Parts: sequence; structure tokens; C-alpha cells
Amino acid sequence: MQDDDVIGKAYDSRLMRRLLGYLRPYWRSALVALAAIITHSVLQLAPPYLIKLVIDTYIPAGDLRGLVNVAWVYLAVLAGSFALEFVQTWLMQLTGQRIMYDLRMQLYAHLQRLDLRFYDRNPVGRLMTRVTSDVDVLNDLFTAGVVAVFGDIFTLAGIMIVMLGMDWRLALASFVVLPLIAVVTQWFRSNVRESYRTVRAWIARINTFLQENLTGMATVQLFRREGRNAARFDEINAAHRDANIDSIFYYAVFYPAIELVGALAASIIIWVGGLNVLDGTLTLGVLVAFLQYSARFYRPISDMSEKFNVLQSAMASSERIFTLLDTPVAVASPSSPVALDRPLQGHIVFDHVWFAYQNEDWVLRDVSFEVQPGQRLGLVGATGSGKTTIISLLLRFYDIERGRILVDGIDIRELDLATLRGLFGLVLQDVHLFSGTLGGNIRLGHEGLDDLAVRRAAEAVAASGFIEDLPGGYDAPVAERGATLSTGQKQLLSFARALAFNRRVLVLDEATSSIDTETETTIRQALEVLMQGRTTIAVAHRLSTIQDMDRILVLHKGVVRESGSHQSLLAERGIYYRLYQLQFQRSA
Ligand SMILES: Nc1ncnc2c1ncn2[C@@H]1O[C@H](COP(=O)(O)OP(=O)(O)OP(=O)(O)O)[C@@H](O)[C@H]1O
Ligand SMILES: [Mg+2]
Repeated sequence: MQDDDVIGKAYDSRLMRRLLGYLRPYWRSALVALAAIITHSVLQLAPPYLIKLVIDTYIPAGDLRGLVNVAWVYLAVLAGSFALEFVQTWLMQLTGQRIMYDLRMQLYAHLQRLDLRFYDRNPVGRLMTRVTSDVDVLNDLFTAGVVAVFGDIFTLAGIMIVMLGMDWRLALASFVVLPLIAVVTQWFRSNVRESYRTVRAWIARINTFLQENLTGMATVQLFRREGRNAARFDEINAAHRDANIDSIFYYAVFYPAIELVGALAASIIIWVGGLNVLDGTLTLGVLVAFLQYSARFYRPISDMSEKFNVLQSAMASSERIFTLLDTPVAVASPSSPVALDRPLQGHIVFDHVWFAYQNEDWVLRDVSFEVQPGQRLGLVGATGSGKTTIISLLLRFYDIERGRILVDGIDIRELDLATLRGLFGLVLQDVHLFSGTLGGNIRLGHEGLDDLAVRRAAEAVAASGFIEDLPGGYDAPVAERGATLSTGQKQLLSFARALAFNRRVLVLDEATSSIDTETETTIRQALEVLMQGRTTIAVAHRLSTIQDMDRILVLHKGVVRESGSHQSLLAERGIYYRLYQLQFQRSA
């Protein structure tokens, strides 16, 4: 699905009404701007008429006072135009910026509520395009588009009325070229619309491509994909350039063509009007005024065609933005969550749970287990057997298809989402760090955690050693995604984070990457500190991590195949026994 390719209608009243809703808080400024625009376009009608007065009335009469007065009025009109244009530009830009701010806040808030299934389906690059350039396009709509079109329509209608009023025959003669304008404009619109759509589609592809490949630069360089990626980027980039060149071609033809048509109208006026002046049926002043009006006539027409494009892309962008805003939040707090009379204790039950990421490709089949408060449960199994999935389901990152997950006897779908997630301290397989400081990454903006608490947590899990060795200590900067830290350091940091938050249940997804024995010992000791007095669910790849657990579940292709203590599982001589043999041989 490439929704960036969707070609919108030029005007969609449903979208437009919704868009205008964003204007509502700023209706006063918008109204003032609109009034300024309309007054401005009415004022535009004055200068040619003043010239006509000068030529036809004051010069022949030798009226010097009249001439001076006209000069003053002329100046006043231009000064007024200047002031009105300023008001209009300032207010519309202001309003546009405010609307963009509102929209981006709304989009971001919605993105934060959307569930992981949504993020599995939508590339980050595309979502970024929504919040950045799609919103920019809407700004164009408010600042350059809709409102200014009113001004153009007023100018056009006003000029036509004044021309018809001064001399209807000459006016009609000069309107002969209007059908030509219609043809040129139609040609331009349909072509530009097409190429504009293509340009936007390629921009979205550039964003998606960059996002993915810049984030994965290490992999790109490791596997020597530079050449191939450059070639792929070349393709996308070239397509983007060509699409742009296409649209430039239409612009390059359109503007001169409109001027040519305008020149045609001017020559008709000179020819027909000139003859009339010679006949004595037309005054010189009217002829000059006509020439000036017709020159002013074609600018709004070409402007309007341009604004038509703005309108068009704004419709497409708003369609995409609204689709995103309307994406239902699949995992949300129930409207009336179960009221709790005491904090959750962390009694966890999986009751015949079935789950699939897609359709009926079951990743978990009929999984059942129970963890009493204070108990420790280990999860083992081959890669892809569904261990991380169990954790994601417990935290309700996804909702299950069949069965129930209970916490303290309550179905987690009936619990407030924040309350549920507040029960767990989570250490994930890959630790996500934010740019900022080391201390900030332990605290994660939690205000209840002072420096001392952060320090204690780090000391308890033996993270303080490497932190204090770094220049700046707890204030040492962390690069984006924690790129400057080692995997073991990131693990320790996330332990400190989990400890500092002091949640009742510890959920651990052990990193698969191998670490040196010394760090492993450090981590194992840190883990022991973390687990003290907590219910624990731990996914382990190194069986040594979970030997002391109260119970161990062995998963195989989404099914719980064995369950029991380390000793009893060994005695069963099944999958766990074989796994243990393998690891034991390797380390021996
Ligand atoms: N977001 C997702 N969308 C679709 N399928 C997924 C998604 N995440 C995992 N899967 C699939 O679900 C299955 C279980 O994945 P899971 O991450 O739970 O495995 P795991 O037991 O944690 O493996 P590992 O030991 O490698 O961490 C795998 O077949 C995987 O391909
Ligand atoms: Mg996993």
C-alpha cells in the first residue's frame, strides 16, 4: 500500500470542512485577513480609473488642483494597499503557523497512543513525512491558498465589472481570449497535478529509504552494501529529480503562455479601441485604463492556477493526515477500568492464550502458566519460539486473539493501561537509550527520582563503575540510540533504570549477544539484586541465568512443551535436558 501515491480530488468539501475546523480558534485573525484581502483587491481597481480621470477630465480641462488631488489619492491608494498587504500576510502566516503547531501536537499525541501493530506496518520514514512535510503543505493552504483565492476572485470580478461599465463592447472584445485561457489552464492543471503527485510519492520514498539505511549504517558498511544502496538511492533520487523537472517544464510553458494570451488581449484592445478612439466613440483615457486593467487581469489567473495546485496537494496531504489521525487505537484503556482498592500485587496468569501477529499464523498456541507474587519464572526456547511475544502480550503491547491474561485475577484488558504497565520493570533484549545524559537515561524524566536514587540504583547493579569512569559521570552525554556505549554497558544501564523505578514485577528479556565472562558475572550479580523481593519473569538464553528459578517453561514453536524446576526438567530428559547438555559441553 503506497498511500503517498493517492491522488486527491482538487476539492473535497468533507476534508475542507474538517480543515476549516482548525481555523476556528483563530477565526478573528482569519476574518481580519479576509477583510484585508478583499479591500486590497477592491483598491486594486482604482489606479487605472484614476489615470482615466487624469487623461479624460483634468488634463483637457487644465485643472491643476484636480491633478494634484488625483496624485494624492493615487499615493493614498498605494499606501493603503501596502498596509493591507502587510496585515494580510502577517495574519495569515501567523494563523498558518499556529495551525501547523496544533496539527503537529495532535499528530504526535495520536502517534504516542497507537499500538505496536501499527508501527509494525508503517515505516517510520513515512510517519515522519506526515508530521513534517504534509503539515507544511497544509500551511501553504492557509497562507497562500484558500484565503488568497478570494482576493483573486474579487479582483477578477471587479475588473470585469468596471470594464463592462466603462465600455461593454470593448470589454467583450477583449474577453474573446478567455476560452484560450481556459484551455491553457486546463492543460497546465492536469499535467502539473500528475507530476506533483509523482514528486510527493518520491519524496516519501526518499524519506523511508534514508530512515532505514542511515539507522542501519553499520550493517550497510559491514556487508559492503554501499554500492548497491547508492545505486538504489540513485534510482529514487533520479526519479525525484525527473518528476520535478517534469513539473518545471509545465510551469515554464504555462506562465509565458498566459502572458502571450494577455498580450493578445492587449493587441485586441489597442486595435479595436484605437479604431474607436479615431472614430471618436472612445476616449483616450478609457483606452489607457483598459490596457492597464487587462494587464492586471492575467496575474490573478495564473496565480489562481498555482493556488489550484496548492489546494490539490493540500487535499491529498490532509487526506493522509486525517487517515493517520483516524487510525483507531487498537490497544487502549477501557472506558471504565476496574477500580483497584490496593496496588496490583503481580499475580500473573496466562489462560489458554492464542496469539498471531498476522491473521492465523499462530505464534503462541494455547499457552497457560501462572506466576504467584514473589515467584520467579524462567522462559527458554529456541529463537523465534515466542518468548519475547509472551512479554509483549503481558505488557499489552498487542492484544491476544483467544484466551485470557490475568493480573491479580483481572483480565488485563479491563485494567487501566498505565496502571498495568506501571506494575512492570522492563529490561528488553535491545536496550533503547535516548540522547541526553547517562543519569537522564536511568531517570527517564521521572521526577520522583533524585540524583541520590539514581546513583544508588546504578551502584546496586554495578553500573556505577563504568559511569564514573566516563568523563562527566552521570552527566556524560549519551548519543542517539546510545551509540557510544557497549552492549554490556547498555544492559547495566537498563538494569539501573529498572531498579530505580522499583516496580513490583521484573520482566527481563536477556540479550542474545555474547558478552565476556567478567561482564556476565557482573550482570548475573546485578540481576540477583534486581530480582530480590520481586516477581520475576525472565527470558534467558544462558541457562545459567535461570537455574535457580522457581519454575522454568520450555517453549517450542509457540507451545509450552515442558515446565518445572531445573532439576525436574533435567530428570525429564527432554528438550531442556538437551539444551543444557549443549550449553554445558560448550562451556566445558
Ligand atoms: N512484530 C512482529 N510481526 C510479525 N511477526 C513477528 C513480530 N515479532 C515477532 N514475530 C514472529 O513471531 C515469532 C516469535 O517471535 P519472538 O520475538 O517472540 O521470538 P523469541 O522467542 O523472543 O526469539 P529470540 O530468542 O530470537 O528473541 C517469530 O516467528 C517471529 O518471526
Ligand atoms: Mg526475543
